[in-house]
Amino acid sequence: MSFLKEIQRRRTFGIISHPDAGKTTLTEKLLLFGGAIQEAGAVKSNKIKKGATSDFMEIERQRGISVATSVLAFEYNGIKINILDTPGHKDFAEDTFRTLTAVDSVIVVIDVAKGVEEQTEKLVEVCRMRHIPIIVFINKMDREGKDAFDLLDEVEQKLGLSVTPLSFPIGMGYDFKGIYNIWEKNINLFSGDSRKNIEETIEISDLESPELTKLIGEKSANTLREEIELVEGIYPPFDKEAYLNGQLQPVFFGSALNNFGVRELLDCFIEIAPKPRPKQSEERLVTPEEDKFSGFVFKIHANMDPNHRDRLAFVKIVSGTFERNKPYLHVRHGKKLKFSSPNAFFAEKKEIVDISYAGDIVGLHDTGNFKIGDTLTEGEVINYKGVPSFSPEHFRYINNADPLKSKQLFKGIDQLMDEGVAQLFTLELNGRKVIGTVGALQYEVIQYRLEHEYGAKCTYENLNVYKACWVDPKDSKSEEYKDFIRVKQRFLAKDKQNQLVFLADSHFSLEMTQQKYPSLKFHFTSEF
Ligand code: G4P
Repeated sequence: MSFLKEIQRRRTFGIISHPDAGKTTLTEKLLLFGGAIQEAGAVKSNKIKKGATSDFMEIERQRGISVATSVLAFEYNGIKINILDTPGHKDFAEDTFRTLTAVDSVIVVIDVAKGVEEQTEKLVEVCRMRHIPIIVFINKMDREGKDAFDLLDEVEQKLGLSVTPLSFPIGMGYDFKGIYNIWEKNINLFSGDSRKNIEETIEISDLESPELTKLIGEKSANTLREEIELVEGIYPPFDKEAYLNGQLQPVFFGSALNNFGVRELLDCFIEIAPKPRPKQSEERLVTPEEDKFSGFVFKIHANMDPNHRDRLAFVKIVSGTFERNKPYLHVRHGKKLKFSSPNAFFAEKKEIVDISYAGDIVGLHDTGNFKIGDTLTEGEVINYKGVPSFSPEHFRYINNADPLKSKQLFKGIDQLMDEGVAQLFTLELNGRKVIGTVGALQYEVIQYRLEHEYGAKCTYENLNVYKACWVDPKDSKSEEYKDFIRVKQRFLAKDKQNQLVFLADSHFSLEMTQQKYPSLKFHFTSEF
């Protein structure tokens, strides 16, 4: 197959949801359709069970599984599909944000009974900001839940989306009869024992046809006719361009557990979802079809085995092909590196491959060369943007608890930060180190990993910080900036990239500072 055809048949996407909405179940059903796995239960959920905060085995288990399920690739109808795993647990939200820099589209799973939940709101906001094409899948239709129209309203209001249903449920919960597929103009009927079988599909090109009444009864048929009329009246017709630009989001209904509505979702997905998209670098826009390779690191995973300290860096190929044993430029270090065993990912395994194409993910063994956001190219000096750090939610001083092991401690902290486990800030005033994280769970992960992988011990001390704001002085020579540096010295720190950060101790103090120094800009992400 030609190089261009290979790229054009790739679809790289992520499934995002609030925990428990059914992301793992849907992923598994998609893999079943692709023939990539043979039985249900093969994809392990990587979620951390509630109340497991202190269970280190759980953390280790999670790390193991998340390597295994980081990228799940399979073929369906000639299309190569790469699903990038996104942890649902909110303490790992930053990992998910970063993974979203490597996807070309997303599917958002929503639980019909719970509606739009907090985690979904945050993740969709990131997708919206980046104009990532979104398909919504409303799951668990076999259970009682919210009215379909109310739910569509909620999706529009809370997620700020503009939706158009491409399928519509016939009843719900106990009365759930099936799905009318607006996209394909046919009906799938639900029968309780359909768990393993893929339903037969009945073409209904005209909803007025008496056959519909025969299939689902007069009452349901009339309700469906009214509802579809409403759908056509309220929502815009599907427009692929608008979807690809992130302006219109198609919605599907189904039940992942019962394998219902999943094939319809997948068939529509491969038809409309984008092939690998161009990506902006600081220097220029790079298109996937360019023959020279380029890519960036969006995730780093430490080896589970403490005796082998190497790590796996996940690289999204933006353009060209990645070839084994070919030297590539590590732009930040300005040196060429060769990779003798790049991993490609399949449903449940990874394998060494000779060639991978734009859109694919390769896993590179790394002994400490990479950090998140690094760019690799065939020689051109370009830097991909868009793997920002977000302001952490929690802040603690980190102290060395074993003075004989300070070298190990610093090395450990350094490497864990490169992996993106948390963020390190160094106070300007006294050089003390502060660890900022998205969730409290990370502190335990860091402490545990420092001890088990680096032989170092640490303790934490609370620090009252509301938000970390990256400071953009506009003019670093201005009197206003100099005054800010002098007056706020106690609250200033440098991040790992040596960027200046203001650690505001309250919402109020941040507001007051913004008012007092109007020419300075305070950002909640490191990229502005
Ligand atoms: P997540 O990855 O988004 O966290 O969710 P996951 O797929 O693990 O699903 C969460 C729970 O919801 C699971 O039940 C799963 O079986 C159930 N579920 C998923 N899809 C459907 C559906 O269409 N209908 C119904 N009724 N349930 C669904 P669990 O009891 O937490 O786990 P398990 O013991 O079944 O694995």
